[in-house]
Amino acid sequence: MNQPYFCLQNVSYAYPDGTKAIQNITITIPQNAKIAVVGKNGSGKSTFFQLLMGLIKPTSGQLLFQNEKVQYSKKALKALRQQIGIVFQNADNQLFAGTVKQDIAIGPSNLGWSYEKVEETTAKAIALTQLEPLQYRPIHFLSGGQKKRVSIAGVYAMEPNLLLLDEPTGGLDNYFTTQMLGYLRQLENNERTFLLSTHDIQLAYEWADLFIVFDEGQIAYFGDAQGLFNNDDLLASAHLDKPLLFEIANLLLKKGYSLSQHEYPKTKNELITQFQKLNIL
Ligand SMILES: Nc1ncnc2c1ncn2[C@@H]1O[C@H](COP(=O)(O)OP(=O)(O)OP(=O)(O)O)[C@@H](O)[C@H]1O
Ligand SMILES: [Mg+2]
Repeated sequence: MNQPYFCLQNVSYAYPDGTKAIQNITITIPQNAKIAVVGKNGSGKSTFFQLLMGLIKPTSGQLLFQNEKVQYSKKALKALRQQIGIVFQNADNQLFAGTVKQDIAIGPSNLGWSYEKVEETTAKAIALTQLEPLQYRPIHFLSGGQKKRVSIAGVYAMEPNLLLLDEPTGGLDNYFTTQMLGYLRQLENNERTFLLSTHDIQLAYEWADLFIVFDEGQIAYFGDAQGLFNNDDLLASAHLDKPLLFEIANLLLKKGYSLSQHEYPKTKNELITQFQKLNIL
């Protein structure tokens, strides 16, 4: 039962004003993957997420979801969106209800769950995002980062198998960014797939097992960290930095230390451990 979530075949999208935001992309989004979506401003990341959600319809090409052609009737879109959770880049596009708790409960209520299940999953999402002290506050009294946490909680509450997170850490402080990675790890299972767009390359490197690089509406790369971060031309053209920890690992290799790909440190602590193992510290 390990069929891909999405298959996009020669998909293009132009906005009504003629801007060609997505140009002829073909890609398969597998199950059980943590995928970072990266690329410069205006390269098409958010438009790509909107296409996956069925919020916009390709100008040409087609999308398959679990091997079925995506249909754009109200009923078909409702069924599609019940299986996908999205955190929009701009939280104001996402939040509508009066209070934090009411807003988080909207997603699970729309899934037709019982009152008890909605209460339970909403409370769990509030606890995970540490929003208890704010749960009865009106949304419009919140700061930008707090609103972002409410939209993330709304997605957790639905427990979808496919999560689209468009710059979820934009506006979050370091503490809540680390917490968010922790919650995402708790949600991992054999079926779940996460697509997370970010300009924070260190975060992407630490978290993702696959990378999609957008450049001018096209997919310039889809693959692992080694293939991406060893390709200097691609990094320059996509405005991407090489993660410092990746660079240090490459320097160690050059110096003759033995380090296999899966031993590349992804966090500060892993780097220190690696230095100790290699007797550098
Ligand atoms: N509503 C719109 N109407 C017309 N053009 C748009 C609209 N929204 C986005 N675009 C254009 O489509 C292209 C892709 O935009 P998109 O928002 O997908 O980029 P992005 O990769 O998410 O950028 P960022 O990193 O800044 O969030 C850009 O050229 C942008 O100017
Ligand atoms: Mg965007």
